[in-house]
Amino acid sequence: MTKSIYLALDFPNWLETNHFLETNDLRGIPVKVGMELYYQEGPKVIEKLKQDNHKIFLDLKLFDIPTTVMRAMKVIAGLEVDMINVHALGGSEMIKLAKEGLLSGNANYNTKLIAVTVLTSMSNTTLNEELMIPGDLTENAIHFARFSQANGADGVVCSVHEANAIKTACGKEFATVTPGIRLDNAPVNDQQRIATPGFAKQNGADYPVIGRTVTHANNPREAYYQAIKEWEEAR
Ligand code: C5P
Repeated sequence: MTKSIYLALDFPNWLETNHFLETNDLRGIPVKVGMELYYQEGPKVIEKLKQDNHKIFLDLKLFDIPTTVMRAMKVIAGLEVDMINVHALGGSEMIKLAKEGLLSGNANYNTKLIAVTVLTSMSNTTLNEELMIPGDLTENAIHFARFSQANGADGVVCSVHEANAIKTACGKEFATVTPGIRLDNAPVNDQQRIATPGFAKQNGADYPVIGRTVTHANNPREAYYQAIKEWEEAR
């Protein structure tokens, strides 16, 4: 899979999504489909995007008892998306069975299983004081990455700020998907740990996810290609 930036299609329905891709001439770029669009449109949205040759990261963040996740993954495997994710917080057995579900549902299509470590909207204080998970955020993210990998995950969702440490702990081949990407001077919104595309490239991100920086820009196409340029030029 070519390393590139995935655009988060955080739209309420296919009509708006299609209009956005059409008017901004962004057909065929790698995209992330999240809960909002998928719950509205169902599997047919994946079929439509695949017809236009988009690479797809299906961001549904499954989190349930292991058998339920396994059975859901068996169905999801049939969609033939490039990446699907679960919350690492669901535990090792859930991750193991998620992978089993994907493989038994479709052994021919290599959908990558990605585990969410710590949401990029979360601060160290929220982690420690609200969720009562002690320790440093980065250490937690590395810990989640290690046990996700040991149980069959192909990579993790993490912030750019943890990507390098995760590569050191889990190896270069272990994929890092990094939301919280912002162009310089763009609004931060509800994200806590953000980074520019260039910084992401230099710091171990394989698949950055960019959303509102592009979709809310005055000229989304220009913003997307600015991000691609910064990503490609970074050394
Ligand atoms: O608009 P923005 O660039 O903040 O969008 C980030 C996208 O990545 C959103 O669709 C969000 O749900 C998703 N995401 C995230 N943090 C994670 C996993 C996914 O922000 N840990």
